[in-house]
Amino acid sequence: MDMGRRIGVLTSGGDAPGMNAAVRTIVRAALHYNLEPWAVYRGYHGLIRGELEPMDSRSVSGIIQRGGTILKSARSDQFRTAEGRARAVDMLDKHGIDSLIVIGGDGSFRGALSLEELGVKVICIPATIDNDIPCTDYSIGFDTAVNNVMDAINKIRDTASSHERVYVVEVMGRNSGYIALYSGLAGGADVILIPEVPYDLEQVCQRIQKANSMGKTYNIVVVAEGVRPISGGRSDESPSVEIGRYIEETAGFDTRITILGHIQRGGAPTVRDRLLASRLGYHAVELVYQGKSGKMLGEVDQVVKSFELAYVLAQEKQLNLDYYHLSNILSSI
Ligand code: F6P
Repeated sequence: MDMGRRIGVLTSGGDAPGMNAAVRTIVRAALHYNLEPWAVYRGYHGLIRGELEPMDSRSVSGIIQRGGTILKSARSDQFRTAEGRARAVDMLDKHGIDSLIVIGGDGSFRGALSLEELGVKVICIPATIDNDIPCTDYSIGFDTAVNNVMDAINKIRDTASSHERVYVVEVMGRNSGYIALYSGLAGGADVILIPEVPYDLEQVCQRIQKANSMGKTYNIVVVAEGVRPISGGRSDESPSVEIGRYIEETAGFDTRITILGHIQRGGAPTVRDRLLASRLGYHAVELVYQGKSGKMLGEVDQVVKSFELAYVLAQEKQLNLDYYHLSNILSSI
């Protein structure tokens, strides 16, 4: 039986609501398995700088309901260098930590894989609002973010209907359309633009015109930040600005633009995110206890599964376009 082995936990990349719930579970599950949990602050950046400290059950009290991450997060240029990674391994050795649980997105997982190549045991947990990690239906934080966006759309709808305007709402997601598609469908948007389907401005205007000819008096257009036009390249300005201007100038609609920004990433995690974080956190510790390494845990059809990290990183997450077609049908009638 493993007695008193030390395990580290860090959060890395963009924070995601539910990361704290995962940290809480990892610490308590580690204690349950008689492992010694250590916090690594500020992701790989803090690891290189030796920002490590032991945790106990009370260090994770009262955090399950908090968004963000108590472990902090940072991006590290130094970790991208061989020298930086060697320092990170030294720090783990110095503190007697042989296993690390990494909570984050694909960039963080690539970092974890490079540590594994240097002999560190790593287990990864997907946490990003973008939901762009393969081998899991959802990543921690996505559900909260998409509910935040839906709430915002509800509010925008009040003012849009009062002034009979077009509202272009830009949401996050990098190159993934998950946030836009799920929030747009749940929020009853008239048009949803996602990176997976290049957009045609003329068609967007036609759809708004058609909707209005059928009696609609205002419109909500949800735009993912990573969208690209069907022809021509992307300009430097936010896509929503370009799209909003075109709708106003070409089709003549009174148009407003709202870029939701980082508000999407904050707030208390939803039940779904807390449960996902708790389940994945627990299984991550179980894998550490069993001496496993180089794995990512995901939840697929409600079952927790473990995947080879290298395999996960070689896959591309597919967006369910059924939702896209459904939204197009519902908004065109
Ligand atoms: O990956 C999460 C995310 O919120 C993306 O949706 C967004 O593009 C990016 O992070 C923003 O990064 P930053 O917080 O560094 O501005």
